[in-house]
Amino acid sequence: MRLAGRAAAATLAFVGARLAPGISTAQIDRWVREHTKSLGGKPSQLGYHGFPAAVCTSRNNVVCHGIPKETDILELGDIVNVDVTTELGGYHGDTSATFMIGEVSPDVARLVDIARRCRDAGIAVIRDNARLGDIGAAIEELARSEGMSVVREVGGHGIGRTMHAPPHVNHYGTKGAGMRLKAGMAITVEPMINLGTARIRTLSDGWTMVTDDGKPSAQFEHTVIVTRTGYEITTLPSDERPLEVAPQVVDMLETDR
Ligand code: MF3
Ligand code: CO
Ligand code: CO
Repeated sequence: MRLAGRAAAATLAFVGARLAPGISTAQIDRWVREHTKSLGGKPSQLGYHGFPAAVCTSRNNVVCHGIPKETDILELGDIVNVDVTTELGGYHGDTSATFMIGEVSPDVARLVDIARRCRDAGIAVIRDNARLGDIGAAIEELARSEGMSVVREVGGHGIGRTMHAPPHVNHYGTKGAGMRLKAGMAITVEPMINLGTARIRTLSDGWTMVTDDGKPSAQFEHTVIVTRTGYEITTLPSDERPLEVAPQVVDMLETDR
């Protein structure tokens, strides 16, 4: 899980560093295929239930599952979520980030900031015996307090030897409700936060989900392992993950024994 997560994070960072006005989302797909391969991994999303690309690229009003296209060109002021899932050594790492292309409007910059903070607020409550509802409640509370809405139709998921596994992880909910998390479980936290209405619809391609009101949506995702005292994020970029100072890692190794 650590190796797969680290690979997915590295590919996401590789792509993120190359985004600029004029780049097509099809180019992002090529970068993801090449970079994933160079790390010895496979893009988990390619062909998943027929998904036609190696990566999801979701721009502006696209909530998630955007399909890369030659004609979908990044412009100054856009935001784009790049969602990378990598299989390596039989396990999966799933991570996404929303990138700003040059300067974006203050509203949109705030949306991106809140989306990242919502993910991190959801992750912060994870530990052995915490409830799934604790995650959703933490996310919903932050989004609401900032006047933004949380997408309800799509959620996080268990992850391991398959990209999508039980349980379903809602990004809304009630503290103290829902299944108990147990040390050793791996899940994703990946809230989609909308500037306007929470309502979404699916385009006729069967994949692309867009906001009902056309306003922008932002999303961030990490893969997280539950530990006895907290959590370990497998998809942090490697330079942000000094193993020697992460108490959760030590804790998990002990749990493994
Ligand atoms: N990586 C996506 C997620 O976060 C999976 C999208 S499924 C696909 O769960 F088929 F659209 F790629
Ligand atoms: Co996911
Ligand atoms: Co993902």
